[in-house]
Amino acid sequence: MDKIIDEKTQGNTLTLEAREGNSRKLYIESYGCAMNFSDSEIVASILADQGYNTTNLLEEADLVLVNTCSIRDKAEQTVRKRLEKYNAVKRINPKMKVGVLGCMAERLKEKFLEEEKIVDLVVGPDAYKDIPNLLKEVEEGRDAVNVILSKEETYGDISPVRLGGNGITAFVSITRGCDNMCTFCVVPFTRGRERSRDPQSIMEEVNDLAEKGYKEITLLGQNVDSYLWYGGGLKKDFKKASEMQQATATDFAQLLDLVATAHPKMRIRFSTSNPQDMHEEVLYVMAKHENICNHIHLPVQSGSTRILKEMNRQHTREEYMKLIDRIWEIIPGCAISQDMIVGFPTETEEDHKETLSLMEYVKYDFGYMYKYSERPGTMAARKLEDDVPEETKSRRLTEIVDLQQKHSAIRTAEFLGKTVTVLIEKESKKNKDEWSGRTEHNNVAVFPKSTYKPGDFVKVKVTDCTTATLIGEVVEHS
Ligand code: SAH
Ligand code: F3S
Repeated sequence: MDKIIDEKTQGNTLTLEAREGNSRKLYIESYGCAMNFSDSEIVASILADQGYNTTNLLEEADLVLVNTCSIRDKAEQTVRKRLEKYNAVKRINPKMKVGVLGCMAERLKEKFLEEEKIVDLVVGPDAYKDIPNLLKEVEEGRDAVNVILSKEETYGDISPVRLGGNGITAFVSITRGCDNMCTFCVVPFTRGRERSRDPQSIMEEVNDLAEKGYKEITLLGQNVDSYLWYGGGLKKDFKKASEMQQATATDFAQLLDLVATAHPKMRIRFSTSNPQDMHEEVLYVMAKHENICNHIHLPVQSGSTRILKEMNRQHTREEYMKLIDRIWEIIPGCAISQDMIVGFPTETEEDHKETLSLMEYVKYDFGYMYKYSERPGTMAARKLEDDVPEETKSRRLTEIVDLQQKHSAIRTAEFLGKTVTVLIEKESKKNKDEWSGRTEHNNVAVFPKSTYKPGDFVKVKVTDCTTATLIGEVVEHS
């Protein structure tokens, strides 16, 4: 799973090994970005201490939690539909409690309880430690809501239970919230101000994962390049910190260097990067360490400088292209992926063509593309009319998706005949006689099974490919 909305993983229920003595059953379902999936692991950890084991059978749950996403209207509609399903189950099992977590909880607050009568509990992304108290309220027959956003909370002291994972790859959250205020985006409102997690607690979590045999970690944040630890507190208050705090602060390049140096056998990834905050030092750290994967997810949203300005992205088309050039100068062959939005208010055919030509320039390895969805409360919703007709949005989306397909095919084919290192993750979905894993460039690779097993690094000679998958055979244990 990559950092963002991966349709294949949406709605996954997360179950873990049962803790002895726990008798209550929690069913937890997650939607949206990797951060939400990571947060669900924190929530499961908090609830394991309250006597809850997880289940993937909705019908037997005492408590149903849904971790929600507000990024586009469609994401919210999906959750509304799930609530209908829970409602049907609740009719059979009236003692079952239902809680809404995450971004939709934060956005709609108490309104949720009015709109969706079945909901007993509403908890925003910074209030998960309050869940035990809130559950008591619910048991006493009261509705319970906590949507207070925090200046400090990073859950650094909670050791997440790895849910539904493969025991090989894991997410480690390093920042929470976002201060960038892109005009289309609801995240700064639902996840609050940006704060970074203590590097020591990050290192402890990574050390623990390494001891447990994990082979790959992804450092996670809405904007990882903005990571800055100076003893705690909001990113925006850094200027007010003491000279000593400022001088001894840790930024993202330093954090990445620390993690990669401490675990040379572990693969390190990170997501998401923001062009305006990505500094060259990060690129040099990537070039220095072989274990940092040469892949950068670098959302651009639009290829038109005028639209980028309307979106409050702090860079022009040309600056972004220069950054791409620098990436390839410092890290030759680095894979680059994108997020794009079509049909942002006022987007003309000219602007759209600029997006297509930017794509031609970069030839992204892969990307996630969306139609603009107006989010209540954002600057774009307040100031700009959602004026691009639906048919135009659809047509533009098809055009960029088709172009991306073409580019993905080109990028994938570049590996034909080459030998790549693959971390085996699981059995291939299409063929039980094949393993499936990923290369450092984030390509999926499949090859016949032999004595190797998930968690092994192997060298694979690429003999064939589809648009997104490398097909080959193992030439050597790595
Ligand atoms: N920095 C974040 C971005 C979160 S949102 C991260 O870690 O990924 C993920 C993507 O959703 C954005 O890059 C953007 O392309 C898309 N998106 C955000 N708000 C949107 C909106 N209102 N309509 C359509 N797409 C949107
Ligand atoms: Fe959203 Fe922009 Fe932050 S897309 S998460 S406000 S970087």
